[in-house]
Amino acid sequence: MQNFIFQNPTKLVFGKGQIAKLPELLPRDKKIMVTYGGGSVKNNGVYDQVTTAMKGFDYIEFWGIEPNPTVETIRKAVARGKENNVGFLLAVGGGSVLDGTKLIAAGIASEVDAWDIVKKGYAEEQLPFADVLTVPATGSEMNQGSVITRAETREKYGWFGKYPQFSILDPEVTYSLSDYQVACGLADAYTHVLEQYLTTPGQSRLMDRWAEGVLQSVIEIAPKIKENPKDYDLMADYMLAATLALNDFIRMGIAQDWATHQIGHELTALHGVTHGHSLAIVMPGTLRVLKEQKHDKLLQYGERVFGITEGTEQERVDKAIEKTEEFYRSLGLTTRLSEENIGEETIEIIRNRFNERGVAFGENKNVTGDVAREILISCS
Ligand code: NZQ
Ligand code: ZN
Repeated sequence: MQNFIFQNPTKLVFGKGQIAKLPELLPRDKKIMVTYGGGSVKNNGVYDQVTTAMKGFDYIEFWGIEPNPTVETIRKAVARGKENNVGFLLAVGGGSVLDGTKLIAAGIASEVDAWDIVKKGYAEEQLPFADVLTVPATGSEMNQGSVITRAETREKYGWFGKYPQFSILDPEVTYSLSDYQVACGLADAYTHVLEQYLTTPGQSRLMDRWAEGVLQSVIEIAPKIKENPKDYDLMADYMLAATLALNDFIRMGIAQDWATHQIGHELTALHGVTHGHSLAIVMPGTLRVLKEQKHDKLLQYGERVFGITEGTEQERVDKAIEKTEEFYRSLGLTTRLSEENIGEETIEIIRNRFNERGVAFGENKNVTGDVAREILISCS
């Protein structure tokens, strides 16, 4: 196990009716900016719950943070925040509203352009922020990450800052999600675990078992959620699984991959593929192309998560990869680029982008533009 420092300060406030706790959690001595997406909160009662809870607070609203939040929108919010002397932010929405709000919090606290913060990769200063989460998927409610798109150039990058001060997670707010959004959320959570787990075995028994527990839980609840998307206990497990999948708990002292996410971000930036769906397409390809490097861990994954014990090692590795693709398909997602009408031209653009940036991803830093191309060809 590698050395590590762990400190996750986010307070999770979990359960039915917990939005009503906002008055106990929000500061009274600061002007608050409440941020929203495109209006889903007005159809599912979340907006009413938030405004009722915030009676008497000094706040303004900012609307219109889009899925895959753009820096162009965030700049407008930063300007409004500065004009209004905002000192605290409350994001109400999915990962996109939350990620956008993280950048607003950094932008208000700084004099540099928001895109420069993203390109630098981390924020020096950031106003405190919190959230009412409405999509279980990204883990943004309990991590330091944020992913921002620049519409003008169709680029999408992650950067890091502070953790949310608190996150309110009421599983009942998920009842209004479409089947497709739930499929993408489950795929995202599942892939987050794989990005941290599917490297090499023998680094930490504890991290392995923890990761396998989250994977098995997601596999177990996914078909049940399809049958009954308004079952409170199922949605509660889904919501908490998505948080645990990317809140630092399962990655203490271990190597991580994240190549699939980097390639997926390009598919989103270039074609608007929904984030979780992009991962369902790319992850099986990553595993196919890197199956020698990941051989030992794929064997462990196959046996412990899918119960694969028969056949040669090679057959078991191949089976584990097939089972992974099957799982994504069982959610109702396509797993091939051709099914989304994405072809050779896009693969070349991604290869060139990675090569021009001089990047190499994955636990062995060997997923260059050329390897990304191989991965994408294998998902065609
Ligand atoms: O904008 P509104 O009207 O609110 O509608 C949203 C949006 O259209 C809608 N929605 C949200 N809650 C709903 C709902 N519809 C019905 N009922 C509800 N309860 O859902 C749509 C998608 O929302 P979005 O926030 O984009 O989804 P998600 O939470 O999956 O976030 C995706 C973004 O997070 C980034 C992705 O790259 C993408 O930009 N990620 C962030 C990470 C992080 N911060 O750590 C890690 C992830 O790997 C990911 O990259
Ligand atoms: Zn993700």
